Amino acid sequence: MGERSPSHLQSRKSLWERIKRWHPGASRPASRDSICPSRWHELHAVIQATGPLRVDYVDLPGTDVTLRITRPYTVYTDGPKFGPYWGEIWPSGVILAEVIARDPHVLLGRRVLELGPGLGVTAVAALQAGADLVVADARPGSLDFCALNTLDNVGIEPKTVCVNWRKPSREFFAVAGEGFSLVLAADVLYDYEDVEPLITLVERILAPGGELWLAEPGRNAAQDLVKTMRKRGWHDEEDAYTSLLPDPHDRVKDVVTVHRLCPPSATQNQG
Ligand SMILES: C[S@@+](CC[C@H](N)C(=O)[O-])C[C@H]1O[C@@H](n2cnc3c(N)ncnc32)[C@H](O)[C@@H]1O
Repeated sequence: MGERSPSHLQSRKSLWERIKRWHPGASRPASRDSICPSRWHELHAVIQATGPLRVDYVDLPGTDVTLRITRPYTVYTDGPKFGPYWGEIWPSGVILAEVIARDPHVLLGRRVLELGPGLGVTAVAALQAGADLVVADARPGSLDFCALNTLDNVGIEPKTVCVNWRKPSREFFAVAGEGFSLVLAADVLYDYEDVEPLITLVERILAPGGELWLAEPGRNAAQDLVKTMRKRGWHDEEDAYTSLLPDPHDRVKDVVTVHRLCPPSATQNQG
């Protein structure tokens, strides 16, 4: 990943050529020219008003895909600090995007929810794979940047819903409707207080036969969630990936584990 000059930006045509190789059955995304200009300008104006911006280019390991990610540019004058969590590019989001990009047909046509999309790195991969995507985050800034980044990279944007999963709103459950066949979440657990609300939420919004893909870099709260789910009978298939990207907070391992968690009822039905 790196900050590069705009001249590095791939043309829309060459990006589409790479998406086609990724996912031969994908319908052609809108070209930059055919993205609704008023929507793009509306989002860009909202985002620009939040402060200075930067553009990073993120290579998805194991693929030849590079994502163009607009994010807040935060300058600190009094020592190292961090911007909002949603405004960083996290190894788990990149790894989850890579997992999707390597096997995109798995998401094609599925009703998918991403919890805590941040800047939208994983959301870009899910939309490129053909998912019918909803993203949900407590921070309106995350939802705006995610919408702009998906528009920029894929030409379409997900449905967005603002929700704190400690206190999910009626609007959120209205959007969830009959539920999702897949819930994605990358590095969304750094607080123990989120563990029980998140399990309850996922249990409520997974459609029958649905699954949760959780990417996590070894933080204690995430491991607590996985342990709790296993104890309650969820089936967990996990794969570990070495991240090429350092963690912005640099306190956890550079290994990201992706858990594919199925609820007990789905496991019993399989048996
Ligand atoms: C560390 S960031 C990860 C962002 C992205 N998934 C990635 O990997 O780059 C965590 C995300 O979860 C969201 N989040 C954390 N706690 C939340 C809560 N209780 N309700 C809703 N969103 C939350 C944050 O706003 C942020 O977008």
